[in-house]
Amino acid sequence: DLKSQIKRLEELFTVPQEKLKEVTDHFISELAKGLSVDGGSIPMNATWCMNYPDGHETGTFIALDMGGTNLRVCEITLPEEKGEFDIIQSKYRMPEELKTGSAEELWEYIADCLQQFVEYHHEGEELDQLPLGFTFSYPATQEYIDHGVLQRWTKGFDIDGVEGKDVVPPFEAALKEKGVPIKLTALVNDTTGTLIASAYTDTMMKIGCIFGTGCNAAYMEHCGDIPKLAHLNLPKDALMAINCEWGAFDNEHKVLPRTQYDIVIDKESPRPGQQAFEKMIAGLYLGEIFRLVVLDLHKSNECSLFKDQDVSQLEKPYSLDAGFLAAIEEDPFENLSETHDMFKKKINIDATRPELELCRRLAELIGTRAARLSACGVAAIAKKKNLGECHVGADGSVFNKYPHFKARGAQALREILDWPEKTKRSEKDPIEILPAEDGSGVGAALIAALTMQRVQKGE
Ligand code: BG6
Ligand code: GLC
Repeated sequence: DLKSQIKRLEELFTVPQEKLKEVTDHFISELAKGLSVDGGSIPMNATWCMNYPDGHETGTFIALDMGGTNLRVCEITLPEEKGEFDIIQSKYRMPEELKTGSAEELWEYIADCLQQFVEYHHEGEELDQLPLGFTFSYPATQEYIDHGVLQRWTKGFDIDGVEGKDVVPPFEAALKEKGVPIKLTALVNDTTGTLIASAYTDTMMKIGCIFGTGCNAAYMEHCGDIPKLAHLNLPKDALMAINCEWGAFDNEHKVLPRTQYDIVIDKESPRPGQQAFEKMIAGLYLGEIFRLVVLDLHKSNECSLFKDQDVSQLEKPYSLDAGFLAAIEEDPFENLSETHDMFKKKINIDATRPELELCRRLAELIGTRAARLSACGVAAIAKKKNLGECHVGADGSVFNKYPHFKARGAQALREILDWPEKTKRSEKDPIEILPAEDGSGVGAALIAALTMQRVQKGE
């Protein structure tokens, strides 16, 4: 019956404290491996963002944000002295077809958006080349800050002819073709942008995280602790922001408590064998995990979920997104009427009360597992770097919109790091994960400004 199915799901999806600790310990050694000469599955990419901002960054910059869901263009003016930023921005849709289309179409579309932006906001002006901070939120190997070889697409992107190549030349060629007066100054990851933008307003910020369509983090490492860069003879105490690309954690499947559903997600994805950690946590996959479980229960003989209903709409891969799960979790448990209506409207299923209760519990289990596992990454960086009291800046749709994600993550951190339970509400945990400043706008502009300062100083 459904009750015993709920119990089975609870066993399958609950990650107990001991497991969290085991995952974290393995995570710490994998972070180190990624920095070593031989490398590991976590890329630990050097970003060439080599300083925290000190508040003296100035200038006007264009920031382009190519994340997973939107394409955003901003123009940001950094104040003379640390203070309010002046931002204008436009959002463009990132057409779904573009994610699996051709490279030419991608660069042309982006160049079109930038052209529209410049024409709209600077109509009739004589423009010099505007410096651009390009937030390109995919793993890239960088030897300089204004280049980046795409290691592999993530987050469901699958565009031929881009992996293994520097993305900057074709991007700049597309701009040139259209005569857009923009020059790329820095290519940044959204996590690095988040770290830098957060640190600008709060010097306790030591890690930048994204919990959104994808999941990843960046932090500052000392160059002396990055063996794979030793041949460059950088000063040992100089800083280097590392984009971990921790979505690739445990691609070898040594510690993560994967279920049969996680295995299907991986197998059916455009890049099987990759992003093992991300596929259990990130927004892109949460709804799909739910869909696979529900469909499996419908088909199993021991359970009568959605018996005699037409489940054809539920058969469509990725038809349910993280927003769907978030809405289930937001619905008051007492009636679950919104959930009922949503099932009817979205997938044409007329669910009974016990079925709705099972779905609600399943959503909680999937959302909780994601939050708890993601805390392992934060705890691993904190332990590796011996961070005592500090702040972690986080952004992304899951962090900002998924119900209880923050509280569940904080609870897991307490369990991993053995902090005592808070006795008073006002007591703060030593490490707090807080909503970040808009990383991809402000962060990209700050990194572009820091880069120009470095170039001027001849560093
Ligand atoms: C946005 C940032 O707020 O969050 C992007 O501007 C980032 O740079 C994004 O990629 C991540 O969230 P999501 O949910 O859009 O993947
Ligand atoms: C994916 C990308 C990574 C990005 C993250 C969050 O993991 O590979 O670069 O930071 O998603 O958007």
